[in-house]
Amino acid sequence: MPDRRMMKLGAFVHETGQHVAAWRHPDAYANSGTSFAEAADVARTAERGKFDLLFLADSAAVSVFGSPESRGRMGKMVKFEPMTLLSALTAVTTHLGLVATSTTTYAEPYTLARQFASLDQISGGRAGWNLVTSNNEAEAFNHGRDQHVAHADRYDRAAEFAEVVTGLWDSWDDDAFIRDKASGIYFDPAKMHVLNHRGKHFAVRGPLNVARSPQGRPVVVQAGASDTGRDLAARVAELVFTAQDQFDRAREFYGDVMARLARHGRTQAEVKVLPGIYPVVGRTEAEAREKYDYLQSLIHPSVGIAVLEHTIGVGGLDKYPLHGPVPEMGDTNGPLSRQRLLLEAARRDNMTLWELCLHNAGPRGHLLTIGTPAQIVDVMEHWFRDGAADGFNVMPAWLPGSLEDFVDMVIPELRRRGLFRTEYEGRTLRENLGLPKPPSRWRPLEMVAQ
Ligand SMILES: Cc1cc2nc3c(=O)[nH]c(=O)nc-3n(C[C@H](O)[C@H](O)[C@H](O)COP(=O)(O)O)c2cc1C
Repeated sequence: MPDRRMMKLGAFVHETGQHVAAWRHPDAYANSGTSFAEAADVARTAERGKFDLLFLADSAAVSVFGSPESRGRMGKMVKFEPMTLLSALTAVTTHLGLVATSTTTYAEPYTLARQFASLDQISGGRAGWNLVTSNNEAEAFNHGRDQHVAHADRYDRAAEFAEVVTGLWDSWDDDAFIRDKASGIYFDPAKMHVLNHRGKHFAVRGPLNVARSPQGRPVVVQAGASDTGRDLAARVAELVFTAQDQFDRAREFYGDVMARLARHGRTQAEVKVLPGIYPVVGRTEAEAREKYDYLQSLIHPSVGIAVLEHTIGVGGLDKYPLHGPVPEMGDTNGPLSRQRLLLEAARRDNMTLWELCLHNAGPRGHLLTIGTPAQIVDVMEHWFRDGAADGFNVMPAWLPGSLEDFVDMVIPELRRRGLFRTEYEGRTLRENLGLPKPPSRWRPLEMVAQ
């Protein structure tokens, strides 16, 4: 029997694109963070390519990093709140999964459960929640604190948060609402479940005032790669988003997350791992390299430094010589796993501070590929077939051009090799991802594979 395992693809889009200088490209949508028309166009392009999902990263604060010189030059300062944007995008798309990032550190589980269950209803089963614990320390200042919550405490809260949210999503059985006009019975009270959660961080009675969603539960995505992060992924995630720049490391990560599942009574069929990929594609290798170099040439040094500071969660790097060695630094309380990955790359390749800024400017620790469609697909196929990935979160350098390049050049090559769909398999995000519909904790025997 032929191998019918297909790659899963997310379109991971920042407002103007992944690259720090994306907005300066002459053809870039420089105001996607404030233009719904541009965001809708990007979503339609992703759906034209038959991407599984559109993925929005998020942070509920402007970054605190950057020298005075960099201020006014930073392209990623304002954007739409993801749930609001995705709700509007449901009206201009039909099959594309819609994944928003929401933090467990500064949100409340009842509100978050309502929002995602509503998005799942409104979109006909296309919602996903990317569970993060906040990599941006500035979020603390917007939520009544003068310091970011510590890494370990964030994960402690996150585990309980996820427990409450998934519990609330089981508040109603699928068939709870009868709405029988003749008898006057609207719903069956036996099919309504009260959570009554009392824990260390939360007291939430429930039930949720949104019906059980078309997917049973929105798909849970998780991003966080430290030991505690991996453990949380194994416990709750159905999609794991990860930053990896080396095949061996990615394979180790994949194997490790999968090996941890059994501890939580889960199986590999319930989880997919999608590393990020930053593809720069050209009709020839030279054209791809030219595209890459052009965007790199648009980086102002102060912006390169500021974005590196943000990515690794460490300030004050502008005090060091730009062309000197990468300074020694302590662990961040923000994006710890990313800090380690980038510092390791710097040591491995003996980079100067500026070289590390350039290295970070586009992929930010994710897999960089530059070349023809065939060269890019060679790398993707290797990671996919050899145990490092179930697919990828594709990070277009600038929008809309880099996403269009991927859809028009790379996806046809993936299809030619039988690695990617030609039509959506189903209507819900779960159906397209091939993930099972989770049973309600109140009716555990009803697990159905989709
Ligand atoms: C691939 C990836 C993507 C992430 N995206 C976000 C994000 O969009 N917003 C956010 O606040 N945190 C994000 N995070 C941060 C994590 O939730 C977490 O706070 C941080 O990575 C520290 O945990 P770790 O050391 O386990 O990775 C992301 C982390 C990873 C690894």
